[in-house]
Amino acid sequence: MLIPPPLSLYVHLPWCVRKCPYCDFNSHEFGGGTPPFDAYVDALLADLDQDLPLVWGRTVHSVFFGGGTPSLFPADAIERILQGAAARLRFAPQAEITLETNPGTTEHGRFEDYRRAGVNRLSFGIQTFDDACLARLGRIHDGAQAAAAIELARQAGFDNFNLDLMYALPGQTLAMAAADVTRAIEFAPTHISHYQLTLEPNTVFAARPPAGIPDDDLAWDMQEQCQALLAEAGYAQYEVSAYARPGRRCAHNLNYWRFGDYLGIGAGAHGKLTLGSEQSILRRWKSKHPAAWLAGAGTPSGIGGDESIEPARRPFEFMLNALRLVDGFTLAEFEATTGLPPTVIDGPLETATRNGWLQRSDDGRIVPTELGRRFTNDVVSLFLDD
Ligand SMILES: C[S@@+](CC[C@H](N)C(=O)[O-])C[C@H]1O[C@@H](n2cnc3c(N)ncnc32)[C@H](O)[C@@H]1O
Ligand code: SF4
Repeated sequence: MLIPPPLSLYVHLPWCVRKCPYCDFNSHEFGGGTPPFDAYVDALLADLDQDLPLVWGRTVHSVFFGGGTPSLFPADAIERILQGAAARLRFAPQAEITLETNPGTTEHGRFEDYRRAGVNRLSFGIQTFDDACLARLGRIHDGAQAAAAIELARQAGFDNFNLDLMYALPGQTLAMAAADVTRAIEFAPTHISHYQLTLEPNTVFAARPPAGIPDDDLAWDMQEQCQALLAEAGYAQYEVSAYARPGRRCAHNLNYWRFGDYLGIGAGAHGKLTLGSEQSILRRWKSKHPAAWLAGAGTPSGIGGDESIEPARRPFEFMLNALRLVDGFTLAEFEATTGLPPTVIDGPLETATRNGWLQRSDDGRIVPTELGRRFTNDVVSLFLDD
C-alpha cells in the first residue's frame, strides 16, 4: 500500500550571470539586459496551477528556490511566487523556505527583503575562499565578496544558512581544502554542504579538464580530514555531502533522500508524486529551456514528460536516495514509499550485508557501512531489476 509521504515544492530559477565551466545544472547566461522576471513569475504560477490536481488537499512542508541563481531575482518577485503558492497550497507552520544565493549577486538591503518575503533559510554557493581557486572555477566573486555576502545575510537576521563548498579543486592541496572548511566554520553556519568537484559530461571542464585536479586518494584524504574538522566543530554528517548542527538538517533535501514527494515548477524542474487513489508514483518534468518553458508553461506543451515509476524499478530508485543517508532507512519506510512488501529486497539486502556494505543498527535501521558509502554505486545497483 502506497502512503503519500511529505510533500515539498521545488522552484527552478534558471539564469546566471555567467555559466561556470564545471556546472551541468539547467542554468543559462542571460546575456545583456535583465531576465524577464515578471513573465517568469506569472509562468511559474500557471505551471503550479496545472500541477495542483495532483496534490489536492496535501500540505507543503518545504520550499526550495534553486538554480541557476535565484538571488538574481528581486525580492518582490520571490514574494509574489510565495504568496501565489500559499494561495494555492496549504503550507505547514514553520515550513523551511530556502533560497540559493550566489555571493556575486547580493546587494545591500536585499536580504531583509527576502526575509520579509518569507524566505527563512539561505544557501550560499561559496565553493572555496581561495581567490586563485575561485578564478580557476570561473566564479564571478572572490573570497572577500563571499565573506561580505554572508555577513550581510547575518545582519539581516538570517540565522539559518548553508554554505556550499567544493573540494578536489584544480591546484588544491590537502591543507587548502582544510583551510576552506575552517574558514567556513568561522561564519557559524547551521549547515555545510561539502561536494567533491566532478567533471560532468557536456561541461567545459569535461571537454578540457583543468590541470592539477587531485587524484582519488588525495580527494579521499580531503574528505576524511574535512569531515573530522566538521565533526569537531559540531557538524554531523548525515548524507554523503551534507553536514549540520543539531536540529538543522535540510528538511527539503531530506525529503528527497527519504523518497518523499515534490512538485517541481519552472524550466526543467522535476517532480515526483505519489497518487494514492491510483496507487502509482508519477515523475513529471518540465520543458528544459527557459524560452520553451516560458512559452508553454501552464499548458501541456510546458510539460517535458510524465512517467510512472513502475513497481519493479522502485527499490532501485528508493535506494539511490536512501543509501546516501548516514542513518539509512527502515523497512517500514521502504514499504510506505514504494508500496512493496520488504520481502522483495531480501536477496539484495543479504548480498549487501554479506559484502560488508550494509548493516542493521540496534534500532532496526538498515544503514550503509563506511565501505558501503565508498561504493554506493555498487550497492545501489544490486537493487536494479534486470
Ligand atoms: C545549483 S548550485 C547553487 C548555487 C549557485 N548557483 C552558485 O553556484 O553560487 C548548487 C551547488 O552544487 C555544487 N556543484 C555544482 N556543480 C558541481 C560539480 N560539477 N561538482 C561538484 N559540485 C558541484 C556547487 O557547490 C553549487 O553551489
Ligand atoms: S552560478 Fe551556480 S548554477 Fe550558475 S553556472 Fe555557476 S554553479 Fe551553475
